[in-house]
Amino acid sequence: MKLNALLLLSTLGLGAVNGERLNRRHIAKRQAAAGTIVTTTAVTSPATVATTTSTQASTTTTAAAPAGTTTSTTSTVAQATTAVVVSSSTSSTTAAGQAGLTTTVSSGPPALATGTTIPPLSEITLGMPTRVTLAAETTITAGATPPISGAPVIPTPAASDYVLSSWPAQDKIPPTDSTEVQEWLKELDGYDIPDLSLTVNGSCAASPAQAADAANRGWWTCGGYTRLTDIVACPTKYDWGVSFDDGPSGYSAYLLDFLEEKDISATFFVVGSRVIERPAILLEEYMAGHEISVHTWSHSALTNLTNEQIVAELGWTRKAIKTFLGVTPTTMRPPYGDIDDRVRAISLAMGMVPIMWTRSPSGAQFDTNDWRVAGGQVAGNDSFASFEEILGNATLIDTGFIVLQHDLFEISVDLAVGYTLDAALTHSPAFDLKSIGSCSGIPEGNMYLETNTNTTFPYSNSTSVDVSGDGTVDTQSGTSNTTSGTTSGAFTNAIPFISSMGVGLAALSVLL
Ligand SMILES: *[C@@H]1O[C@H](CO)[C@@H](O)[C@H](O)[C@H]1NC(C)=O
Ligand SMILES: *[C@@H]1O[C@H](CO)[C@@H](O)[C@H](O)[C@H]1NC(C)=O
Ligand SMILES: *[C@@H]1O[C@H](CO)[C@@H](O)[C@H](O)[C@H]1NC(C)=O
Ligand SMILES: *[C@@H]1O[C@H](CO)[C@@H](O)[C@H](O)[C@H]1NC(C)=O
Ligand SMILES: *[C@@H]1O[C@H](CO)[C@@H](O)[C@H](O)[C@H]1NC(C)=O
Ligand SMILES: *[C@@H]1O[C@H](CO)[C@@H](O)[C@H](O)[C@H]1NC(C)=O
Ligand SMILES: *[C@@H]1O[C@H](CO)[C@@H](O)[C@H](O)[C@H]1NC(C)=O
Ligand SMILES: [Zn+2]
Repeated sequence: MKLNALLLLSTLGLGAVNGERLNRRHIAKRQAAAGTIVTTTAVTSPATVATTTSTQASTTTTAAAPAGTTTSTTSTVAQATTAVVVSSSTSSTTAAGQAGLTTTVSSGPPALATGTTIPPLSEITLGMPTRVTLAAETTITAGATPPISGAPVIPTPAASDYVLSSWPAQDKIPPTDSTEVQEWLKELDGYDIPDLSLTVNGSCAASPAQAADAANRGWWTCGGYTRLTDIVACPTKYDWGVSFDDGPSGYSAYLLDFLEEKDISATFFVVGSRVIERPAILLEEYMAGHEISVHTWSHSALTNLTNEQIVAELGWTRKAIKTFLGVTPTTMRPPYGDIDDRVRAISLAMGMVPIMWTRSPSGAQFDTNDWRVAGGQVAGNDSFASFEEILGNATLIDTGFIVLQHDLFEISVDLAVGYTLDAALTHSPAFDLKSIGSCSGIPEGNMYLETNTNTTFPYSNSTSVDVSGDGTVDTQSGTSNTTSGTTSGAFTNAIPFISSMGVGLAALSVLL
């Protein structure tokens, strides 16, 4: 994915890259059943240092069907009239200089090698100058073979699938009277969906009755209550489940470059409204061996929505992913972690297992707090300092942990690429960075409906599931249990999710 040899093709020529090229390292890693990881010496670009610029070059892969100039990273470029993805970039900017990033961290924020494009921590803050957004760097053709064994080849979306207006309005709860939603609602037939009262915006403070009942209703937001059906941690101590939420975005490509260079697989919890804007980035994530999971259409707090609205949120996102990738995730993550037994039951009835992020027994969340920086609440250095404290909790728990990070804005990508992931890689004791399915021992094929071979995953019936295998239906909460904490605080100033890249950032206060 390095923009090594930039080839600017004619407006008619579409660069096509065999998908295999992208994912060989991840395939090798996945297939190396145990231990030895195949390391390939990455071909690094001559550190073309990107100049900091506020140019927004983000108009790719929106409505336009395949057309336009294409930047390709390879010398094996072919004409491909069947290309389903157009990738164009007006810039040769890459996540340059990351080769020099692995500095040894003993204490405090890592010092960055000179020549990187990541600013010092103290300068990572709301209002920082931004780099150009990047389009997908590689085009992937219809018919390409995905890295998941047995998965359908990359489909050919209809021209209308690239037209935003043919999807529900972005960043709004989709209407529930459409034929699609009415059809998806049938998936709940026969399931016992608990009749819980709705919360006010998923806020503990604004929903006192529900907050008082949080343990009974398994409401995560107010106290961290989980059920055994939820994936809340990596089972193996010091495993770090890597996840990025809210994309795909114009900054995801910087992250993908870094992940490839470090040979890390992650789980991307994608928002449907973003998927239809940047299907090429989503494809690149999938083809590079990362896991794709559902993170709703409008990023609303789900405990505040009706059953029908939840079905619409999950259903449209699932459909967008299936349209561009050909597969349907068997997992989801609720925005803000806002889930209760009603939301959980609906997700499971629709074939999606909830994935949270980890809370320590003290209630500390493995949250990098990058969203607080993007929201202007704290500066990068303070965010990193608090995350380092939380990391200390890794020694307190018997399991590994799942970490919350984001790839919607440059701020959070810069924090990840320049600091948090780097700190993880250089930490002592060493962390083992993995995608969540991988750290959970879920075979990669089972992360998608089309390739899933496990008849009890996702669980067929959330209200009569016996995950623990003790012969009785599970009802107990998970271990995490605090009645106050950052999550409830975060919701007191919750505002509707802001979508547009580089727009309205100042208004953003919550980005979970
Ligand atoms: C789910 O479990 C409930 C309670 O055991 C049962 O009544 C219902 O029939 C089950 N539904 C399905 C679809 O298995
Ligand atoms: C979500 O909460 C807001 C604020 O209380 C409320 O106006 C709205 O009606 C709620 N949504 C639903 C579906 O009840
Ligand atoms: C909940 O959301 C609605 C709709 O966005 C908004 O009008 C209301 O002020 C919010 N309430 C709280 C408590 O955040
Ligand atoms: C972060 O930077 C600000 C401003 O430079 C400073 O006041 C603050 O103490 C720093 N925080 C940490 C944890 O270093
Ligand atoms: C666990 O995290 C909290 C912050 O939430 C921190 O105060 C505490 O020191 C951490 N524990 C350890 C052992 O690092
Ligand atoms: C199927 O999924 C269940 C639930 O996650 C798990 O306990 C079981 O081990 C899985 N079976 C196989 C063969 O992977
Ligand atoms: C949660 O903590 C409170 C106070 O420490 C305790 O009373 C309650 O039993 C705990 N609930 C669970 C489910 O562990
Ligand atoms: Zn989110």
